[in-house]
Amino acid sequence: MILSLILGANNLVGEIPFSLGNISHLTDIALCENDLAGEIPSSFENLSHLTYLDLSQNNLVGEIPSFFGSFNQLYSLAVENNEFSGNFPLILLNLSDLSLSRNQFTGKLPPNMSSLSDLVLFYADANAFTRTIPSYLLNIPSLSCFDLSDNQLNGNLEFGNISSSLSDLLLGNNNFRGSIHKSISKLVNLYTLDLSHFNTQGSVNFSIFSDLKLLVDLRLSHLNTTTTVDFNTFLSSFKSLATLDLSGNHVSVTNKSSVSNPPLLSRFNLSGWGVTEFPEFLRTQQTTEILDISNNKINGQVPCWLWTLPNLDYVNLSNNTFTGFQRLMVPSSWQPSMNYFSGANNNFTGNIPAFICALRSLAMLDLSDNKFNGSIPRCMGNFSSTLQALHLRKNHFSGGFPENISESLKSLDVGHNHLVGKLPRSLVRISSLEVLNVESNKINDTFPFWLSSLQELQVLVLRSNAFHGPMQQTRFSKLRIIDVSHNHFNGTLPSDFFVNWTTMVLLGENEDHSNGEYMGTSYYSDSIVVMNKVLEMEMVRDIPQELGDLSYLAYMNFSHNQLVGLVPGGTQFLTQNCSSFEENAGHFGPSLEKVCDIHGKTMQESEMPGSEEDEEEVISWIAAAIGFIPGIAFGLMMGYILVWYKPEWFMNVFGKNKSRSTSSTTR
Ligand SMILES: *[C@@H]1O[C@H](CO)[C@@H](O)[C@H](O)[C@H]1NC(C)=O
Ligand SMILES: *[C@@H]1O[C@H](CO)[C@@H](O)[C@H](O)[C@H]1NC(C)=O
Ligand SMILES: *[C@@H]1O[C@H](CO)[C@@H](O)[C@H](O)[C@H]1NC(C)=O
Ligand SMILES: *[C@@H]1O[C@H](CO)[C@@H](O)[C@H](O)[C@H]1NC(C)=O
Ligand SMILES: *[C@@H]1O[C@H](CO)[C@@H](O)[C@H](O)[C@H]1NC(C)=O
Ligand SMILES: *[C@@H]1O[C@H](CO)[C@@H](O)[C@H](O)[C@H]1NC(C)=O
Ligand SMILES: *[C@@H]1O[C@H](CO)[C@@H](O)[C@H](O)[C@H]1NC(C)=O
Ligand SMILES: *[C@@H]1O[C@H](CO)[C@@H](O)[C@H](O)[C@H]1NC(C)=O
Ligand SMILES: *[C@@H]1O[C@H](CO)[C@@H](O)[C@H](O)[C@H]1NC(C)=O
Repeated sequence: MILSLILGANNLVGEIPFSLGNISHLTDIALCENDLAGEIPSSFENLSHLTYLDLSQNNLVGEIPSFFGSFNQLYSLAVENNEFSGNFPLILLNLSDLSLSRNQFTGKLPPNMSSLSDLVLFYADANAFTRTIPSYLLNIPSLSCFDLSDNQLNGNLEFGNISSSLSDLLLGNNNFRGSIHKSISKLVNLYTLDLSHFNTQGSVNFSIFSDLKLLVDLRLSHLNTTTTVDFNTFLSSFKSLATLDLSGNHVSVTNKSSVSNPPLLSRFNLSGWGVTEFPEFLRTQQTTEILDISNNKINGQVPCWLWTLPNLDYVNLSNNTFTGFQRLMVPSSWQPSMNYFSGANNNFTGNIPAFICALRSLAMLDLSDNKFNGSIPRCMGNFSSTLQALHLRKNHFSGGFPENISESLKSLDVGHNHLVGKLPRSLVRISSLEVLNVESNKINDTFPFWLSSLQELQVLVLRSNAFHGPMQQTRFSKLRIIDVSHNHFNGTLPSDFFVNWTTMVLLGENEDHSNGEYMGTSYYSDSIVVMNKVLEMEMVRDIPQELGDLSYLAYMNFSHNQLVGLVPGGTQFLTQNCSSFEENAGHFGPSLEKVCDIHGKTMQESEMPGSEEDEEEVISWIAAAIGFIPGIAFGLMMGYILVWYKPEWFMNVFGKNKSRSTSSTTR
């Protein structure tokens, strides 16, 4: 009798009902792709007729209960994409399909799982398994797919008696070391082989792979080998290859001899070092979608035929020494579908070539760290509604800030150029903008309070320009980071300046900043070092809730401005390096100078909140440098500075005196 409970992909929440264990004749259970939490209920002990159990893609925690060992009819168990932990009790399972991927399983794989003799599919990637792979596991004759990539396995790998029926073998991103045994060449039925980050510490005989004629997906990145891969010879062994990752190895590509009948690659990663010539064989690769040849030593011009490959989606040429682009006459019928292009950190000079603007479906364009000059072309506004990130920082662009910029942008970075004039008011049309960085240009404008109409703006960096005048009261609803340092702003700030900046205000209330996630979306995925521990919760009482928010500031720098005010002596300020306060209008409070005098270069924890000196202080400007990675799928590391203004009433938070001195913060 088959009795099934199939409730996959239903937005179920809460725990798995205990009563489910009462339906003891259940044979098939699928609760996958829901939002279930908690542990597997102990009542499952009675489901001894289970043959099929799929709990994948939930938020389940805890260990797989040991009574699973008595489910001797269970042939398919899927728990991938949960938060299960502990060891895995496989002792008695009669499984054929087992998926443990993307959980937090730890420990070694059981040394003896002899009843797994019917195992066909074994997926346990992205866990934290350690030690070696028990040899019996790889030797199970029925085994077809075996994935233990992204774990912490180590030791040598013997492929001695490995089942030659294996079609997928993924062992990449572990800590295996030693030589790759030549017996791997017996696995002639392999379609997928991943040995990335295998620490060979010596030479690798790349010809041992040449018998694997059926390979479709071959990943051999970062083998820590002294051997140079002769690319042309290597590639000619494979006829069906579609994915090839040789990144992080020494690869020699020579265009003098050509590869005869190369396979048609769709994903090709040669990011590494040592490649000096643009691989000519790519010219005929009509199928290539993903091309990464970053981090090499390719110089000269990027060949024009590259852009005519019809399926290109992602091209990364960054970190080479390209100097230009071969001239490309754009055919009027051209409809490239490329989504990502990075040419960052090369030696490109002159104007941005026009064909780049014709890459109409770009979602990300990164040309930072080059020597492009002239003005930022008007055609930058031509991208269709797909462009989300435009990074042109660290070039020699001059002229005014471009008027027409693609209105779909989320991230616009033109920092470190020579742009002059004002910020164009047309920026308000980029309604999805989250990051605007114009640092280190010569923009001469007043404070762009009008940017507050950008409802999504989270990061605004105006650092090192010629902005001047007072900072006007405004409301940035989602701003999290603002850096206005190194400008000519002057005057005092109204005490309620930040009151309506709701996102900054909300930061402290619900989120645990100590895990560094307050930046929220994956868009700013990097960590932020936070200092939650410093501010005592007691201080928040009576005091507006907003004030607690400053507790996450980790690093401050409010040097080089012309602002007035005193530096507070309390909380995290005292852990800062004295150079964070230098070169301002000089209106810093006595306690800062005193502390710097006493303690030398760094202020000490002993001066933390509560000391009597804190009471009179008013903070003026606070900056926290944080790092974050913008990037839709890929990231660039950047440093940012966060500038805060603390109105007068803030003194009360740091001191013992809890009375408020202004009334501008009522909610
Ligand atoms: C399993 O079934 C037995 C007998 O029906 C019952 O006594 C026991 O309480 C059940 N166990 C659980 C955990 O529900
Ligand atoms: C499961 O394994 C046990 C021995 O451990 C065996 O007796 C039983 O027949 C197996 N069940 C199935 C369905 O293969
Ligand atoms: C493995 O386990 C089986 C039964 O669980 C047992 O019969 C066998 O002796 C064990 N083998 C080793 C090497 O421990
Ligand atoms: C391979 O099998 C042979 C004989 O079956 C055995 O002697 C040898 O130890 C096995 N090697 C490995 C690595 O399991
Ligand atoms: C850009 O740089 C090139 C040399 O690389 C120079 O010939 C040209 O005059 C520069 N153009 C501008 C506008 O500065
Ligand atoms: C900014 O522009 C004004 C004129 O609009 C000028 O007086 C001032 O010197 C400029 N500031 C800088 C730093 O260039
Ligand atoms: C603060 O910024 C100034 C100017 O950028 C710099 O010289 C100083 O080293 C910074 N202080 C710290 C602690 O980073
Ligand atoms: C203070 O910051 C400066 C500049 O960042 C650095 O050179 C110096 O080592 C720092 N001093 C201490 C004690 O951290
Ligand atoms: C391009 O490659 C570089 C170096 O490997 C990497 O850091 C960067 O994130 C990549 N860019 C994109 C857009 O993927």
